[in-house]
Amino acid sequence: MLDTPAAAVPTLSLADQARDPDAFAAALGGSFERFGFAIVADHGVPQPLIDHAWAQTEALFALPEDEKRRYHVSGGGGARGYTPFKTEIAKDARHVDLKEFWHVGRELAAGHRYAGEMAPNIWPDRPKGFRDTFIELFAAFDRAGDRLLSAIARHLGLAPDWFDPAVKDGNSVLRLLHYPPIPADAEGVRAGAHEDINLITLLLGAEEAGLELLDRATGQWLAVKPPQGAMVVNVGDMLQRLTNHVLPSTTHRVVNPPPERRGHSRYSMPFFLHPAPDFLIETLPQTITAENPNRYPEPITANGYLHQRLVEIGLIKA
Ligand code: OGA
Ligand code: NI
Repeated sequence: MLDTPAAAVPTLSLADQARDPDAFAAALGGSFERFGFAIVADHGVPQPLIDHAWAQTEALFALPEDEKRRYHVSGGGGARGYTPFKTEIAKDARHVDLKEFWHVGRELAAGHRYAGEMAPNIWPDRPKGFRDTFIELFAAFDRAGDRLLSAIARHLGLAPDWFDPAVKDGNSVLRLLHYPPIPADAEGVRAGAHEDINLITLLLGAEEAGLELLDRATGQWLAVKPPQGAMVVNVGDMLQRLTNHVLPSTTHRVVNPPPERRGHSRYSMPFFLHPAPDFLIETLPQTITAENPNRYPEPITANGYLHQRLVEIGLIKA
């Protein structure tokens, strides 16, 4: 585990996009085509906001277990609020993941047309200021996500604003993750091998080791090691499906730490960028060729697809 080689995923600067959007799009698209992953520095999410969010995340998970469980919605699929330790299981995995998490969704106006598919947020009584912090952070992730999607659109030969209507009022989820210290005899891993369901994932916190991707070229696990403050961005299954696998959703996992880090918690914050629930995931014609015929002749709505996948990972019953 200690010697897992590092993936040669380049670190890109999102600040370069303004100067040369085509070059940034080519670099991001190239990294995705090779690894399904990219590392993005200068992503525009303010560092003081991130620091504050880490402090609040630690305070949240440090609350007494019975207090946290008051924010667990049974039958809610973990869509909002708290999901206890050892609930989620990666598809086809033998052991549950060694993590607990909290989900923040989009705040919708009362009576919004997506209110049926996107549950209202749950906010904890403490730590104080939690709601304001995470509403602000959600908006900052949204902005970074829009910029990345516009680069992806360029790379695919679409209009740079192609994704704007697809993700407007989209069903994105900000996940606060806590992987507690690991006893020496722990069964299972922090997060079993899986693919993300959504369009793209923007992840903060991967400086603490553990994240690995399964390299499609060699079949080897490779460590993902972002420099301090950079975001790890990966393609999810919805974007893979939309692009007929031109942009691949890459299997990844979070392995347990070496003995000297076992006593430490690991915290991370993935922002799962989802389309609007009624967005139709229909293979983009420019990704269909003689060598790569349409793998998904049947389109599916984002909400229909999400439901299928949440059943598979044990978060909702069929
Ligand atoms: C996830 C995930 C990685 C991490 O939550 O889907 O892959 O570093 N997290 O926590
Ligand atoms: Ni993931």
